[in-house]
Amino acid sequence: MKNSAIALLAAALTSVAVSCTPVSSRTEVIPQPLQAEIDASRRFRIDENTAFTVIAGDDERRRIEERAASILGVGQSESGTIVLTVEEGSGKASKESYRLNVTTEGIEISSPTAAGVFYGLQTLGQLRADDGSVPVCRIEDEPRFAYRGVMLDLSRHWFGKEHVKRQIDVLSRYKFNRVHLHLTDAAGWRIEIKKHPRLTELAAWRTDSLWKTWWNGGRGYVEEGSEGAYGGYLTHEDVREIVEYARDRYIEIIPEIEIPAHSEEVMAAYPDLSCTKGRNIQGDLCIGNEHTIALLEDVLTEIVELFPSEYIHIGGDEAAMNNWKSCPLCRALMQKEGMQDVRELQSYIIGRMQRFLERKGRKIIVWDEILEGSDPEAVIMCWHGVHRGIKAAEEGHDVIMTPGEFCYFDSYQDAPYSQPEAIGGYLPFEKVYSYEPVPESTDCSAAKHIIGVQGNLWAEYIPSREHAEYMLYPRALALSEVAWSRPERKNFDEFRTLAAAQADKLRSEGINAFDLSTETGNREEAQSPIKHKALGKSVIYADDAPYWPGYSAGGDGALTDGIRGGWSYGDRRWQGFVDKEGVDVTIDLGTDTELHFIGADFMQICGPDVFLPAEVIISISENGSDFDELAHFFHEVVRDDAVSFRNFAWRGDAYGRYVRYRAKHGKFGGFLFTDEIVVE
Ligand code: ACM
Ligand code: ZN
Repeated sequence: MKNSAIALLAAALTSVAVSCTPVSSRTEVIPQPLQAEIDASRRFRIDENTAFTVIAGDDERRRIEERAASILGVGQSESGTIVLTVEEGSGKASKESYRLNVTTEGIEISSPTAAGVFYGLQTLGQLRADDGSVPVCRIEDEPRFAYRGVMLDLSRHWFGKEHVKRQIDVLSRYKFNRVHLHLTDAAGWRIEIKKHPRLTELAAWRTDSLWKTWWNGGRGYVEEGSEGAYGGYLTHEDVREIVEYARDRYIEIIPEIEIPAHSEEVMAAYPDLSCTKGRNIQGDLCIGNEHTIALLEDVLTEIVELFPSEYIHIGGDEAAMNNWKSCPLCRALMQKEGMQDVRELQSYIIGRMQRFLERKGRKIIVWDEILEGSDPEAVIMCWHGVHRGIKAAEEGHDVIMTPGEFCYFDSYQDAPYSQPEAIGGYLPFEKVYSYEPVPESTDCSAAKHIIGVQGNLWAEYIPSREHAEYMLYPRALALSEVAWSRPERKNFDEFRTLAAAQADKLRSEGINAFDLSTETGNREEAQSPIKHKALGKSVIYADDAPYWPGYSAGGDGALTDGIRGGWSYGDRRWQGFVDKEGVDVTIDLGTDTELHFIGADFMQICGPDVFLPAEVIISISENGSDFDELAHFFHEVVRDDAVSFRNFAWRGDAYGRYVRYRAKHGKFGGFLFTDEIVVE
């Protein structure tokens, strides 16, 4: 970040801590606090004789007492040796800041808010050793970002109320303060709406428990209570319980109702709300139908009554907009409003819902598709890529960063062959930790609009609660430090050791965290660059077989740059080919060369239509126009659940200057991905 006031402040605070040596400025706490002086040689012991005293207003006192008793495992008294104080109006910039002071005589935690006292308690809980002792220390702490969230997708698989409460428990330990619930999607509507009972009588229940079977099968919905029906939903009572449980742990629950897309289940319940009146339903609601608006307003009215959150998320992602083009009602609305493009229908519906919610005192969050044509008051949740979030911030929107590359916890966290099937990608714990939400080049006025970060756990490939926890932890711990700690305070090696210990602790409590000690890491080929005879040589792409710009891997030199791809085709090291002719490249070695090996790797992951080639032809030439074929492979492309890699190579003795490598698509079309044409 240019000119960062935050960076200067953090540097100043760090230098204070450094001047206090030999006292340590590092803590064994996740997320790492802003400033600490720790003297591990002297300790205060919390034991059965210890009690705490809370100094706060009545309502907050009750909450803090409950949390303190639970975290510290001791009782309260009028004059405890642990004193927890809410000092309102202490003038601290961050309401969530706290001060923790441990001496050999006792412990004090103070904060301008009860939330800050809670965070101080969480820090204390992590500092406490098995024998109950805590090092003498002085910690001054506050979060880097105001919004620190995790999204749980309850639609694709249904995990129920207790699961949500369990995650609130865990996430609050690491100082997250928002849980976003993805409550509605094609795979199931998950919240009772009293005015529209079909949303839960039908749209909450489907034919198959596994999302993948259901999605690839008939995508059918069934009546609640019918044989084999899979699904469920939160009742109003459940929601009140979750909201209260979260409030006690200083987490706000943000509901998401998907508008206008991802709404197949709504139209299954109310076919009249589709442009096609129930035939050939796509994900988008009919915007031209006033009944759609009425239903959404009814839904949001109940949502606002149930969720006291500052923000209501109203979706906005991935509208196909196809049915709108030919729908008489949508076209009539476009004409009436003078709209030129169907995309304006999306802005229209989001704008109407935004105004509706604003009248009820709420702000909206929307996915970053809504950036075009949206009101600056809308908070943009950036998922496509970091640049989109920065653009939104530059335009004056508050932005929550959740780019897929760093924040989508449904990706593989380790070598795919060692993991349960996932949606794809590769997001190891270390990469989450490496995420910097405010890139160096962001100017100050945009930086202040980046209000936080969020990890998203989409659940298409996550059929059970245990599996959800496995995907969440410890990656969420890595994100907690991105969200809370200043970059200057981060240190991956130290963090990894602490996170592994925290994950062990979580497992001992029955939370199914991934075991970091089993981690394999990235694909071996991707670990270091390779040298070969074509390294740095020019590559000519046949006119009818260009690479796809979205997967350029750096452009024309990518296939001879020595850099191999990892577990994900999205890692900017794999080059993608979607045109009919597949791969057809010629490498000019510059001079006639002895050749013994010409080969390339391809990868397959069927979910996103990435397939191995059906045919590979390798040929060479001395003059660049007359080619001799060295090898011709045929491969039967078969759909499967695995992420697989295969090398197609010629081995032998030959002589030539030009190497031509062709790879053709199989019967499923889709993408081919290769990372390097290796010539020896
Ligand atoms: C999204 O991943 N469709 C927000
Ligand atoms: Zn329509």
